[in-house]
Amino acid sequence: MPTFGNGRRVAIVAGLRTPFERSGTLFKSLSAQDLGRAVVAELVARTGLDGEEIDTLVFGTVVPSVLAPNIAREVALLPMLPKGIPAFSVSRACTSANQAITDAADQIALGHADVAIAGGAESLSNVPILHSRGFANALVGASKAKSVGGKLGALTRIRPRDLIPITPAIAEPSTGETMGQSAEKMAKLNHIPREEQDQFALRSHRLAAAGTQDGRLTAEMMPYYVPPNYGEVALNDNGIRPDSTPEALAALKPVFDRKYGTVTAGNSSPLTDGAAAVILMSEERAKALGYTPLAYIKSYAYAALDPGEQLLQAPVLAAPLALARAGLTLADIDLVEMHEAFAAQVLSNLRGFESQLWAERAGMTQPLGEVDRSRLNVMGGSISIGHPFGATGARITTTLANELRRRNGQFGLMTLCAAGGMGFAMVLENAS
Ligand SMILES: CC(C)(COP(=O)(O)OP(=O)(O)OC[C@H]1O[C@@H](n2cnc3c(N)ncnc32)[C@H](O)[C@@H]1OP(=O)(O)O)[C@@H](O)C(=O)NCCC(=O)NCCS
Repeated sequence: MPTFGNGRRVAIVAGLRTPFERSGTLFKSLSAQDLGRAVVAELVARTGLDGEEIDTLVFGTVVPSVLAPNIAREVALLPMLPKGIPAFSVSRACTSANQAITDAADQIALGHADVAIAGGAESLSNVPILHSRGFANALVGASKAKSVGGKLGALTRIRPRDLIPITPAIAEPSTGETMGQSAEKMAKLNHIPREEQDQFALRSHRLAAAGTQDGRLTAEMMPYYVPPNYGEVALNDNGIRPDSTPEALAALKPVFDRKYGTVTAGNSSPLTDGAAAVILMSEERAKALGYTPLAYIKSYAYAALDPGEQLLQAPVLAAPLALARAGLTLADIDLVEMHEAFAAQVLSNLRGFESQLWAERAGMTQPLGEVDRSRLNVMGGSISIGHPFGATGARITTTLANELRRRNGQFGLMTLCAAGGMGFAMVLENAS
């Protein structure tokens, strides 16, 4: 049975995250860099990892800060880490942390590294608001002008319309469609009724609430004392609604198609701030340093499709490839973690797994099959827990590795959809 790694098995040794906070709430004053530095500092402290052992650090983010474009290097420059850790940042939309993890794993498989930290962070509370071209030109003109008159002259060219800022939209540049509109279209194309979407959202909240209550979810988080006063502390994900009911969900109005829509704030993932990271090691180095791996990377795959078609359906193309690369089928999988951007997307992906048409598109002769719901997102998912774009992939990796161990399962599958019509899938093997 093939295993990723070129004969050098890549171990997931540990993972940690901040609580995920809805944007505009507890973490509103924090940047992605702040959140990323905090989680890596805590992960290193908790594992007792010697900074001198770290060969590389890779971090993902979707909305980079113009003030710190290489967030990974800023995270690697933590005071307790040596200054000699090469670090680079990656972006692949909602699978940015997965890109960071697979890039780091590739470095280990190639023998270029033995120990790596990989993850991602996002602050949707602090998305940059851009000036219009007209306003920017005037500012540049004024800064270049030598005289006061010249500066005033440049500024007087500003028109009222130039003062309207460019607000970032979570939309596809190639189609102009927002993610929510794409989810709405997928609900219609795949005949997914509102009730089914709401039921899935309710399931997510209930399982996440249970995972918080029994400590499984909180065991993967660090308490975050919010600067500058450190009076407030984030201890868990504030998007989880233990009190959610079918009635309350049914009462919500569709957001992206007000007239005929089924996608609401209740069955969508919320805009969220947070960070997550994992420690990866070669099997040999982990043993040499006395670390017990959680899981090994068995295989992974990326896929893409036309964004104008079903934007968030690419996991249906990535999963069969990752399973084939691992020499496995869905029947061999004990646990599935599927990113929940929208309930409509999750249910479309699950229908795609059972579809002959999508199987053939993935170059397979037969569909993957039905995912056993009792093995799916057993501690909830992004609809309830939240979705800081650059961090979610690392959250899911840690949760899948931990829960696979808890359940003494052998193989776990994760799948994520991403903007640009992309998808990711990875198979993990329990290390115990
Ligand atoms: C859908 C979306 C627009 C909603 O944003 P919002 O309106 O700020 O959402 P809120 O959290 O304020 O919720 C709106 C209302 O629904 C209610 N609500 C949300 N979830 C609920 C639930 N599970 N149960 C009951 N009520 C709920 C809120 O309480 C709120 O009610 P209020 O208006 O009475 O306060 C936003 O979350 C969004 O854009 N999500 C998608 C993000 C995205 O595209 N991600 C990329 C994925 S690829």
